[in-house]
Amino acid sequence: MIRTNSVSFTFNEFDKPDDLNSDDRELVFAARDAALNAYAPYSRFMVGAAVRLESGVIVKGANVENAAFPSGICAERSALSNSVSNHHDDKPVAIAIAAITEDGLTDEPVPPCGNCRQVISEEELRNGRQIRIILSGKKKIQVIESCSHLLPLQFTKNNLNVKLH
Ligand code: THU
Repeated sequence: MIRTNSVSFTFNEFDKPDDLNSDDRELVFAARDAALNAYAPYSRFMVGAAVRLESGVIVKGANVENAAFPSGICAERSALSNSVSNHHDDKPVAIAIAAITEDGLTDEPVPPCGNCRQVISEEELRNGRQIRIILSGKKKIQVIESCSHLLPLQFTKNNLNVKLH
């Protein structure tokens, strides 16, 4: 017996920030601004993330690298650690991500790494709310309605035999 399954999702693409609604445009610019604060002397790949909370507040984060490479943290987890720590009950509704190299803003949108997808997904589950993911490069902007689309068949608390309080 074999069952063949498939997973697919649709997402919207925009040519430029002006094509977004004003909230999303503001979040994209916040992510680009956050990238300027990255500490990325090893990769020279400066990433910024901006989390929009339900209240409207924007929380920014950047990647912070370390001479002990695995001790570094990505921009997305940097921003989400900040929002959970300082705005615990204010639910994230969107996160914008952008990266800057020596040639300026990347041409292509930069997607979150696997580690960050796992952390964004945990926030979606903790809060029972989808988090829109807004990826921006010079060429285009991609908007994905939930991190679950980027991390199908995900490992969650349901796979653990524990009850959360
Ligand atoms: N990086 C992020 O901050 N976010 C991502 O989604 C991809 C990668 C950082 C980690 C590291 O500091 C640098 O970019 C190069 O991988």
